Amino acid sequence: MARETQKKDPSRGAAGLPPYFNIDPDSALSDLDAPTSTGGFADIAEACARGRADLSSRGMNEEGRKALRLFSTWEITRYLIPVAQAHFRRVLKANPELPQGRSETEGGAKWFTLDEVLRLRAHFAAQGSKTKDYQPYRPEGLPAKMVAVANFKGGVGKTSTAAHLAMSAALDGYKVLVIDLDSQGSMTSIFGGRVEDEWQTAFPLLARHYGDHLRLENQRRLDRGDAPQPLDDSLSAAMEMTAADVIQPTHWPNIDLIGAQLNLYWAEFQIPVWRMAARSWKLWDALTERLEADGVLDQYDVIFIDTPPALGYLTINGLSAADILLVPMGASFLEFDSTGRFFDMLHSTFASIEEGENLAARALGRPEIAFEWDAVRTVITRYDSAQQGELAALMQAYLGPTLSPHRQDYTALIGQAGEQVNGIYEADYRDFNRETYARGRETFDATYAAFKRLLLAVWRRDELQMQRAAQ
Ligand SMILES: Nc1ncnc2c1ncn2[C@@H]1O[C@H](COP(=O)(O)OP(=O)(O)OP(=O)(O)O)[C@@H](O)[C@H]1O
Ligand SMILES: [Mg+2]
Repeated sequence: MARETQKKDPSRGAAGLPPYFNIDPDSALSDLDAPTSTGGFADIAEACARGRADLSSRGMNEEGRKALRLFSTWEITRYLIPVAQAHFRRVLKANPELPQGRSETEGGAKWFTLDEVLRLRAHFAAQGSKTKDYQPYRPEGLPAKMVAVANFKGGVGKTSTAAHLAMSAALDGYKVLVIDLDSQGSMTSIFGGRVEDEWQTAFPLLARHYGDHLRLENQRRLDRGDAPQPLDDSLSAAMEMTAADVIQPTHWPNIDLIGAQLNLYWAEFQIPVWRMAARSWKLWDALTERLEADGVLDQYDVIFIDTPPALGYLTINGLSAADILLVPMGASFLEFDSTGRFFDMLHSTFASIEEGENLAARALGRPEIAFEWDAVRTVITRYDSAQQGELAALMQAYLGPTLSPHRQDYTALIGQAGEQVNGIYEADYRDFNRETYARGRETFDATYAAFKRLLLAVWRRDELQMQRAAQ
């Protein structure tokens, strides 16, 4: 009898019963495919790759590259160059050598490329009112600021935050470099990067830093009469490379990229092996010192580093390179809880590096090291004021100034913006409901404003210090 009732198909029978009752094992079996082998993963990966290629070919230009949309006079004068529309038009008319824009219809709105916007801004900065903020502040003679966005919790908005800040900073007139340290390569997709293998990622920079260290070590070994450790082929190849070899342009005229790809994950295995071979190699300095040595810190204004959802060697490198550390998290108990643990891990990781180094430094009478960040801020992302106000207030109460004052709202503009992975600054506002667009843009503009305030503050602090030191 009991068996009889079980045979019923749940989708058709037993009205009112929950869907997990009355599942017939034989009918379930008839739907089941063969067991999966290792090769099965390759098939699934291949299917994903084909789907991805299909999606990403949409919205690309003829060369199969991402193209940045145009910017209208309205948007330029509203968001990018602080002048009245009428004045903007007058200046263009009076200066026929300046970009004049193009319109889709006779007498319709004029549209400009970002390159043209940047040229126009430079013109207004040179000719326009001195009291206006045409070009963003960047103290002379000081290096670019590096900003790492990290949290070992996945899906908290690291990549979205880093990508949007990079775009905002670029729109604001800064020259930006984005470094993707996540082998998932999401940031690389957003910026349309092409990465064949680990040799087009940050990997060779780290390898070269190790190779340089090994050569110095070998010199000392030779001096002591010990046999040197040979550099293998891949280290020797890395010794020939500089940052310029791995930096690629993007569809944004003032954003460049060091991309990532699955093979970058290899670094997580390789770095500890190198470190075992040369205990004195300061792996955490690798990224900063290579970027510095190759002049990258003078070529850019702001460098954003996106990290994977793990506290591995790549993340440690990104974090120790950073001047500013941003830690995104949602206003939910689980994300708050996990972010607390992340800071716990940061503390023990960096404390143990300092301890190890300083033990040796004290023994040798050398100065001790201490990591320092200009600023560390947690940022609430995907915020829903109707549901999360109370929790956000609690987080604010406990974290105080460490929590950035602006909560980045949940917006339908992200994630759903068309077939491609796009930033909201890349979306054409005419494709959205005006209200949705304005609110989405507003919340990311405010995220950038809070960040820019921090950036200017830390730069200014350095500038004043430099001036005092020169006196
Ligand atoms: N403000 C927002 N409003 C709506 N959706 C958002 C917002 N910020 C991020 N998202 C969405 O949340 C998801 C996770 O975001 P994102 O990829 O930036 O997180 P992540 O921390 O980089 O993830 P991972 O740990 O995998 O690298 C994405 O689908 C993204 O589109
Ligand atoms: Mg990410």
